[in-house]
Amino acid sequence: MAVVPYKEDTKGKKDQVASMFNNISKNYDLLNHLLSMGIDILWRKKAVKLLKKEQPKQILDIATGTGDFALEALSLRPEKITGVDISEGMLEVGRKKMKERGVDKIIELNVGDSENLQFPDNTFDAVIVSFGVRNFENLEKGLAEMFRVLKPSGSVVIIEFSKPKAFPFKQIFNFYFTSILPQIGKVISKDNSAYTYLPESVQEFPDGDRFIGILQQIGFKQTRCIPLTFGISSIYQGRK
Ligand SMILES: C[S@@+](CC[C@H](N)C(=O)[O-])C[C@H]1O[C@@H](n2cnc3c(N)ncnc32)[C@H](O)[C@@H]1O
Repeated sequence: MAVVPYKEDTKGKKDQVASMFNNISKNYDLLNHLLSMGIDILWRKKAVKLLKKEQPKQILDIATGTGDFALEALSLRPEKITGVDISEGMLEVGRKKMKERGVDKIIELNVGDSENLQFPDNTFDAVIVSFGVRNFENLEKGLAEMFRVLKPSGSVVIIEFSKPKAFPFKQIFNFYFTSILPQIGKVISKDNSAYTYLPESVQEFPDGDRFIGILQQIGFKQTRCIPLTFGISSIYQGRK
């Protein structure tokens, strides 16, 4: 059984995930930075730096949400960054941010499903995803779509939560992640389930070598995993 945000709901994971992000979109940025104490910003910076040498001109940011990874990717000086997401609420917040910063000509945010991308094969020099893949209804389908739209030799860079393994950090973090974070998330976002779904979905998600194995199965080469902050998150990289 897939881990879904609203257990009583009969809708599929994709619809539930879109509703959940629509519900929390207004508070998403605040909660992200508060609950991670701003570390999420450093993680995105580090991930983008991995693409510096390649100087990608056309970048696709999958599950772009409010566009923070796309904004970080501006440091690569691309010609265009296209962000796609299934949550119109998240995109609305993102588009406002792009306008305010005067980058709405370079960063374009559109509704789009990562499992059925509306782009021809071999379109992008790089595909990036932060904290998106865990939410896909069909992970393999989403990854196969990324592979398809990448140009040959193009790179994928994915950030996703993983599970810390070392004592005592693992125990301390797990207490925070499963007991404290959902309470703060619930009060601020006013969504009873979103921040319970977060640790539950991370627990279920294949991390480390398991995720690398799936990337390789899809066809990605030169794969690697870079753990971040004791393994709370990881960067995964691969090449078409
Ligand atoms: C945790 S947010 C991450 C947003 C952003 N990348 C960031 O780093 O802040 C996850 C996003 O994935 C989107 N998402 C989930 N499944 C998706 C799918 N199948 N296609 C496109 N977006 C999806 C959600 O709507 C949500 O905006």
